[in-house]
Amino acid sequence: MRIPIIAGNWKMHKTMEEAVQFVRQIREDIKNTDREVVLCVPYTSLAAVKKEIEGTNIKLAAQNLHWEDYGAFTGEISPLMLKEIGIDYCIIGHSERRQYFNETDQTVNKKVHTALNHGIRPIVCVGETLEQRERGATQDWIKTQVIQALKGVNALQIKDIVLAYEPIWAIGTGETATPEQANEVIAWIRKNIQEIFGVSAAETIRIQYGGSVKPENISAIMAQKDIDGVLIGGASLKPDDFIQMVNF
Ligand code: PGA
Repeated sequence: MRIPIIAGNWKMHKTMEEAVQFVRQIREDIKNTDREVVLCVPYTSLAAVKKEIEGTNIKLAAQNLHWEDYGAFTGEISPLMLKEIGIDYCIIGHSERRQYFNETDQTVNKKVHTALNHGIRPIVCVGETLEQRERGATQDWIKTQVIQALKGVNALQIKDIVLAYEPIWAIGTGETATPEQANEVIAWIRKNIQEIFGVSAAETIRIQYGGSVKPENISAIMAQKDIDGVLIGGASLKPDDFIQMVNF
C-alpha cells in the first residue's frame, strides 16, 4: 500500500511570519487525514515551521540542497544544516531550478545521493517541455531524466525516494495535464523503475503529479491508478485551498 503524499511547494513565497500563520490555520483541519502531508517551505522559514508542526502529522521539506556537507559555496545550504533543523524531505531538480539555476541531471543525481546519505528523503522532479511533448519525445526524455537522477541508487533506497512528474507546460500555467495524460507518464516511469530496480521497488515507490493542481481537479488526478500524490505550487499557498486538497 502506497500512502498518498500531498505536498505543497511554496516556492519563493511567504515570510516567516506568514509561514507560521499558515500552519496555525491548517493544522487542526487536516489532523485526521491518513494521507501524508508535506510542506516544502523556503529555507528562512524551515526552523519556525518545524516548531509549529511539532506534534502534528505535517512533514517538513526544503526545496533544494547542496551536495557537499560544507565548503566555499557562497549562498548555498548544506544537508547538515537542513538535517539539524529536522527536515524529512527535500525537493530535488525542480524544473525551475533546472531552468533558472542551471541544474543538470548530474547535479540532481549528486543531490539525490547526498540527501539519501543524510537520511533526507528526496522528492525528485522530472518533466518535459511543451515542444518535447508535441514532437512525441516525452517518454524518452522522462526515461533519461529518471535513469540519470537515480544512477547509483540501490533497490533498497528506492522506498525513501518520491518522484514527481511535473510537465513544464503545466506548471503555473493553469493548464493541467489530463488525469489520463499524467497517469500514462507516471505508469511509464513505474515501468522503467521495475526494469531497473525490480518489481518490489516499482510497487513501493511513490510518484506524484504536479502542474496546476487545485481543489477542482485533485480528485480526478488522484483517482488514477498510478498517481500516488500531488506536488502543488500556487494552490498550496492559500490555507483553505490546501485544507480542501488534503481532505478532498
Ligand atoms: P503549480 O506548481 O501547482 O503552481 O503549477 C507546481 C510545482 O511547480 O511544483
